Parts: sequence; C-alpha cells; structure tokens
Amino acid sequence: MKGKFVTIEGPDGAGKTTQVKKISDYLKSRGFKVLVTREPGGTPLGEKLREVLLTSEGESPVPEAEALIYAASRAQLVKKVIEPALDKGFTILCDRFVDSSLAYQGWARGLGIEELARINRWFLQDIWPDLTIVLDIDPAQSLNRLSGKKDRLESETLDFHRKVREGFLKLKDLYPQRIKIVDAAQNPDAIFKTILLELEKSGIINS
Ligand code: TYD
Repeated sequence: MKGKFVTIEGPDGAGKTTQVKKISDYLKSRGFKVLVTREPGGTPLGEKLREVLLTSEGESPVPEAEALIYAASRAQLVKKVIEPALDKGFTILCDRFVDSSLAYQGWARGLGIEELARINRWFLQDIWPDLTIVLDIDPAQSLNRLSGKKDRLESETLDFHRKVREGFLKLKDLYPQRIKIVDAAQNPDAIFKTILLELEKSGIINS
C-alpha cells in the first residue's frame, strides 16, 4: 500500500525539528514504518546544495537562482528518497518541503506563489503532501529562540520573516484541505497534541 506524506513547515525557530522527532517517535511506537527527511538536503547532492544555499559567505544567489537551487535539491529528494519510500508504504515526515519555496521565494522574495508552484509541479507531479502542518508564530518571537551563528536566510530582516509568515497563511487559503495551521507559541507538548489531532482528522492515524 502506498504510504502517506506529511510535511512540517513554519518560520525559522518555530520548533519544527522538535515536533518532527515527537511525531516520528509516536508513529514508530504505533508500528508505522517512518522515514524522516529534510529540505534543503536529505540526499548527498541535496546536502551539498544546502551548504550553497545557507552559507553567508561569497556571492548570494539572485532570487531566481535561489528558487531553482531549492527546487534542484527537492527534485533529487523526491526521485531518490520520497517516491521509492512511499511505494514501500513508509509514512514520510519531511522538515520543510514545497510550501517553503512558495512562502519564502514565491511570496517573501516576490517571485510569485503561482510561478513557484508551476516550477515545482513540473517535477513533483503527483507527489504533493497529504498533510502539511504549518507551525505559526510571530517571527519576532521565533527568531529570538535561535541560538548560534545565523545562516543566510535567518539573517534576513524581520520584515522578510513577517512576509514569510504571511505567505504561509496565504497558502492555507489556497490549499485548505492539505494545510493546517498550528499555533507554535504554545509549549511543545501542547503543539504536539494539536498535531496529533490533525493527523487523526486527516486519517493518517486512527484515534
Ligand atoms: P531549515 O533547515 O528548516 O532551517 P531551520 O532549521 O533553521 O529552520 O531551512 C533552511 C532555510 O531555507 C530556512 O531559512 C528556510 C529556507 N528555505 C527556503 O527559503 N525555501 C525552500 O524551498 C526551503 C525548503 C527552505
């Protein structure tokens, strides 16, 4: 049987990685075959592209180049990892996916959500998430949670991160069946409980 594809999205510092781990542990305890991956990255080539995308050193890509490098990493991940694992019945948990491109490049960088969707449809074909959880939080709050050296995207202005948030909220209106917004200002256990409810409602787990 074909597996299910769940993506976790949200602004930098929203707590995605913590939630991906919690969901993965929970699903495994319920006997699911789970595959956790991330974007950009998740394949050897994708991890190299991740370095190119996130370094603050050297020449920055222009927005169009940035969008295409994210897309290249995604195409590699979809064909090499996600599609084969879905065919084997895995539940996939992906830390960021196409909606990051729609929100960051399409909306915040101003390239156009529909334009980015079109580029991604070309290689995603029918591999779109069954469920997308967007962890929603005021970027002023989430960026404060980040520790250590900021990467190229994290170093963008607060205004840029506000546009990213706005982008995700727009996507929820465009794809209301698939995209669910979860308040990420709550504590991690409360966030996790809300995510479990969404997994139940979408039929990925039974209550
Ligand atoms: P991520 O590894 O999730 O960073 P963090 O764990 O710090 O949130 O993602 C790296 C950055 O890449 C993040 O700032 C969002 C950005 N990004 C895009 O701009 N477009 C995309 O398509 C993807 C997948 C990520």
